[in-house]
Amino acid sequence: MSSGTDSTDTINDTAIRSTTETVATLDDLNVGEMKMVKVGDTAVALIRSESGVHAIDNACPHQGYGLVTGALADGVVTCQWHNWKFDAATGRCLIGEEDVPCHRVDITDGEVAVTVEKPSAEQQRERLWPSLRRGLENDYVGQMARDAARLLGAGATPVQIMAEALKVAAPKADEGVGHEMALAADALAIAEVRRGDDPASQDAALLALVQGLSGLSETTRGYPVNPVPAADPSIDVVAAVEAEDLDAARAGILGRIDRGDDPTAIRSTVIDAVSPHHLGYGHGIIYTQKSFELLDRAGWELAPDLLPHLITRIVYSTREDTLPYMRKAMRELTAVDLGPLAETVADGTAVDDTWDPSAFADALLQAADATIAAAAEAVRSGAGVDGLLDAVVMAVSERLLRHDLDVEFDNAEPFGWLDITHGLTTARAARWAWHHHPGPSALRLALYAVWLAFDTGRSERRHGRAGARRPLDDRVGDSPAVDSIGDAVLWRRPDDAVTLALSGDAGVVADQLLDASLADRAGSFIVVAHLVKTAQAAAEESARSGSPLPMAAAARFLAAPRLERFVARSVAESADFVRTGRPPKR
Ligand code: FES
Repeated sequence: MSSGTDSTDTINDTAIRSTTETVATLDDLNVGEMKMVKVGDTAVALIRSESGVHAIDNACPHQGYGLVTGALADGVVTCQWHNWKFDAATGRCLIGEEDVPCHRVDITDGEVAVTVEKPSAEQQRERLWPSLRRGLENDYVGQMARDAARLLGAGATPVQIMAEALKVAAPKADEGVGHEMALAADALAIAEVRRGDDPASQDAALLALVQGLSGLSETTRGYPVNPVPAADPSIDVVAAVEAEDLDAARAGILGRIDRGDDPTAIRSTVIDAVSPHHLGYGHGIIYTQKSFELLDRAGWELAPDLLPHLITRIVYSTREDTLPYMRKAMRELTAVDLGPLAETVADGTAVDDTWDPSAFADALLQAADATIAAAAEAVRSGAGVDGLLDAVVMAVSERLLRHDLDVEFDNAEPFGWLDITHGLTTARAARWAWHHHPGPSALRLALYAVWLAFDTGRSERRHGRAGARRPLDDRVGDSPAVDSIGDAVLWRRPDDAVTLALSGDAGVVADQLLDASLADRAGSFIVVAHLVKTAQAAAEESARSGSPLPMAAAARFLAAPRLERFVARSVAESADFVRTGRPPKR
């Protein structure tokens, strides 16, 4: 039985489509029964319970299986596939993640009519934003994926979706924003680039987006919102960060945002605040770069939601330059007159474009001590800051290309892949700082990157394996057994991944590398975050230099086996410390 009407209504200049159809008589359905009927193109579960006749979407909102194949008891519909339960009268989800749409039922002379209203795109978005926020707050990956897909289908942009997620997550970030925000920034950048009209591109963009959402959610779920102090533009942010006065530093940054300061001036202030210390093993400047890249994409309106929590991270980060193993390097760094040197090279006139970074990269790879004085001299004598960072990228890429897997899987060895990747991502971030705020602060950050490149060799030096670079041609292997970097990562074929990266078209390699970094081949969030940021930094550095070396290095990192469970290593270190009082070796 089916007869009906179609109508449209207009709210806020957007059309709602409404379809009413007579779909059954009361005699067709006994109490306790359900049946599927069609209203227009919508499959509806018609339900007769003790409380009356009800209509909800037949497609379960979880994965779309038909609800009428489930069970009905006491006015509750159970989807048998994964046991989500819904109130038949309202569609409210009782167990599971989201409600099922509910439709109006009219009964006249025993005839049952159902009205299905198709919301406009604008109404869909309004309904979906709270649902997405709920998914984020509960770390429901499926719901985030469904809502992101629906929001994109209803006209929302990846930027709007990620911005909404950051508003939920950033204020809850424990000790300030960190890897989850950096992953969100990279994931958004990739989602925007990969977004196209064909289904494969749309899937790639959605995967990037949801990896970002998932990271934000996983790391902030259940944490309280961190309150922020009242804005006060009179506070010196750099001094407050140096004094580790968290409230003052956040009040100062909020004050500058409130006052309407130029975002580029605020960016320079934050770079100045990060630079006095080598923070968090390079992460201070990495998180700063990612935060401002996010704001470039999502809009400055997001700044009050994000920057106070970046400041928290900066204030709380380890000041690695104060640790004993950096003392010698810091003595050299302190002896460098950063202001005049930065001024000499900032306008580019003292930079020799023909300067070859290879020799300095080799020196860095073989050095027994951090070569800060030599690095400053290189800057002065033609490298400039960009040339110096080219050498750093070369050296760290070499380390990635030869990282010993026996070391990776030795629980007594506190060094692993992630320690090397920081060398690449920090160099990229220092370059970003130099391009946006050329001066002594960014120059100091570049010299920290030199130190970190040296430090990425500590395992090599411990095991007597340090050495100069190998020519790239030597690294191209025989015909790979797989066609793409994604497959090389999937099948753990690091040599094939390197060969493909060195011999493929640069644009194709970059896409494959970024897609592979997001393809869920890692079990731990922290590893996913490092895969993505290393791939992103490598793709950007290869594009800058025209050399496939950084992408080949990142491809090997992605494809090689690695330790992803950190419990065993933590237990080995903790047990030793508790038993003997000895700290772990570095
Ligand atoms: S499809 Fe219904 S609970 Fe999974």
